[in-house]
Amino acid sequence: MTTVRELVESTAAIVGDRNHARWLVEVAVSADPLDEVLDDEVTERMVAHLDVMVGRYRTGEPLQYVLGRWAFRHLDLFVDERVLIPRPETEEVAGIAVEFARAVDGERTVIDLGTGSGAIGLSLATELPLDGTSIWMTDVSSDALAVAQANLAGIGRPARNVTIIQSRWFDDVPQELQADVIVSNPPYIAANSEAVDRSVDRHEPAIALYSGVDGLDAIREIIENAGNYLKSNGTLVLEIGFDQADAARGLLTQHGFIDIEIRQDVFGNDRIAIGRWRSHAV
Ligand SMILES: C[S@@+](CC[C@H](N)C(=O)[O-])C[C@H]1O[C@@H](n2cnc3c(N)ncnc32)[C@H](O)[C@@H]1O
Repeated sequence: MTTVRELVESTAAIVGDRNHARWLVEVAVSADPLDEVLDDEVTERMVAHLDVMVGRYRTGEPLQYVLGRWAFRHLDLFVDERVLIPRPETEEVAGIAVEFARAVDGERTVIDLGTGSGAIGLSLATELPLDGTSIWMTDVSSDALAVAQANLAGIGRPARNVTIIQSRWFDDVPQELQADVIVSNPPYIAANSEAVDRSVDRHEPAIALYSGVDGLDAIREIIENAGNYLKSNGTLVLEIGFDQADAARGLLTQHGFIDIEIRQDVFGNDRIAIGRWRSHAV
């Protein structure tokens, strides 16, 4: 007989990372937390499932896709190769959007553009008050939207506040929609960038990564149009590339945003651009 503990040991020896081994075994034996079942006997079916996952992992497939899930703020998201793997810096972007939306008096509407797995929009839905919150999540990719829909199904009651639509940026967002906060983690890597990790380029969807020759096509288009969908004093929160702060600040200024701020991620890189839509009365 083989125990879960022994399976973790043998998997760690193969994959070379104890945490990764534990997470893989956790999924294979469907136990979370693993500590409670370490002395349990494993079944052939669990071992077969683990073998498949370890095989995929060893080909260089990202751990998150192999596991089929990844943690983002308070969520446990389903992820596969149809969506970007949610990143820690985006947790900060979502947190900033939550704070701006929470500060709104009365009912609040938020749009998450390019929602992918739904990481940002579903965080907003689950962290903001159930009453008076309206979240719109968009993506151009029907593959991504299928994943976002699956994740929406997992959040329970806050799901009632969420509308998911397919739209190329603002193209199919209802014209009358006026948001308090628009948030996006758009694709922002230059098309021919050589700085992209091979595993990212090979496994994550190109549409989620690349955006024109300078990486700024999506950011430009969002900033150019966001004012049409923001209430007076509404806020635009954008994740940007570490070298795009000047460009983002320039675009925000050019298109009428005020109180522009660039915030850093935990590594000290400029990664979040924020602008307030000037009051129409000004
Ligand atoms: C960097 S990913 C972000 C995904 C998710 N919001 C996150 O933070 O993990 C960018 C997303 O924008 C979507 N996207 C790319 N081009 C788009 C477009 N023209 N209109 C709407 N969404 C687009 C991609 O499909 C992808 O899901």
